[in-house]
Amino acid sequence: MGKELAIYGGAPALRTEEVKNWPPIDAIDEKLVMEALHQTNQSRGPQNLAFEKEFAAWNGNQYALFTNSGTAALHMCLVGCGIGAGDHVLVTAYTWSSSATCILHHDAIPIFVDIDPETFLMDPDKIEAAITPRTKAVIVVQLHGLCDDMDKINAIAKKHNLAVIEDACQAHGALYKGKKAGTLGHCAAFSLNQNKCLCAGEGGVFVTDDPKIYENASKLWSFGETARPEQSRDYHAYALGWMYRNNEITAAFARAQLSKYDYYFKTCCANGNYLAENLKGIKGLLLPYVPEDCVHNWYNFNLRIDFNAIGFNGGEQDKIRFRDAVAAAVAAEGIRAAVWQRFILPEMTVFQAKNAYGHGYPWSIPGADEGVDYTPSRFPCALEYSHKHISVVQTLRAPNGLDIAEKAAEGIQKVFTNLDKIDVERIETICKAKK
Ligand SMILES: Cc1ncc(COP(=O)(O)O)c(C=O)c1O
Repeated sequence: MGKELAIYGGAPALRTEEVKNWPPIDAIDEKLVMEALHQTNQSRGPQNLAFEKEFAAWNGNQYALFTNSGTAALHMCLVGCGIGAGDHVLVTAYTWSSSATCILHHDAIPIFVDIDPETFLMDPDKIEAAITPRTKAVIVVQLHGLCDDMDKINAIAKKHNLAVIEDACQAHGALYKGKKAGTLGHCAAFSLNQNKCLCAGEGGVFVTDDPKIYENASKLWSFGETARPEQSRDYHAYALGWMYRNNEITAAFARAQLSKYDYYFKTCCANGNYLAENLKGIKGLLLPYVPEDCVHNWYNFNLRIDFNAIGFNGGEQDKIRFRDAVAAAVAAEGIRAAVWQRFILPEMTVFQAKNAYGHGYPWSIPGADEGVDYTPSRFPCALEYSHKHISVVQTLRAPNGLDIAEKAAEGIQKVFTNLDKIDVERIETICKAKK
């Protein structure tokens, strides 16, 4: 491998064609999808029912409902737990937007909690200070495929009578003390979108063990009705309902992918662990931290730039530009790397404007805005993380094996041992020319 950085024209550590596409498709996917296509019914047929049963059994939940997105499943969690207009719901300041906008979907108010600087997850020690008299639930995001400290969070939730909702959209198969994500709170949501470790193109799963939560969430899922669509329906809206169901072809695809998930999980774990072991001790590179009682699924493998270690003395905007240039250099080595989220949630316009439904709703509900403060500087760890991380995505997924992980490690090492050669302006010009 040449030492010149690929972004400047050197040989990349990995050729693009070496990295296999995600998700892998084989005869199992083709068989099940074709079977669904030739069924008499394309909606709420045998594929949906089978997928729900198989997913619930695989994850260890009593109930599962297949949805058309992870966001839909999150909204169902809130309704399942009885969250209503003007209630406050805690959520981490650094996550995907819909971990928090799902709260707005039911006219409730997100209250952000800063992250732990090592795990990048909601800091359990900052939860109690964020609780208000209106707080009814906490959404724990098992971000990047790592579970938060659920014993601590569940104990706080119990003390304050809060429902615990897991956003497990990125956490299929991730373990906390030997228990799977999605079994660690009152209910949970998974996503099956294109990028997820379990992919059906689009889709989601709502899971719970609680019959009451299941019943409430089911109404939201299908027009407020109480009968499942495959049952005899009376077409009566017993509650406010959305249309969050999914179709048969997608369910068949999800079933096929789920049948291979244990192999995907093992492969991704081995690849992620290879990087974690083999990138140790590089100046300027901070590796992800995995607590001893957790198994990471490596949905994202996150690199962070250690600005102190390299004596970087620019301001925040200089750090962001430098990080973006390093990310471009890693990507040029043939590794699928990107900045995952460059904004923390409180910075986003919908929260800054405090206006989701017009007329300032839901914050304009009498009393709902009391104690709500979205000033970004109140979340310093989330801000810092959003400025210095680079996510390695998908390169570590099956069928890519250790040979690919080895080359990815070489590419990352090459960039991080040459940080002195990162010329921000030159890289920005190169990236602009490529667009
Ligand atoms: C943490 C997290 N929550 C929620 C979602 C929403 O999932 P979906 O795109 O299936 O609605 C995503 C998806 O990107 C996510 O990463």
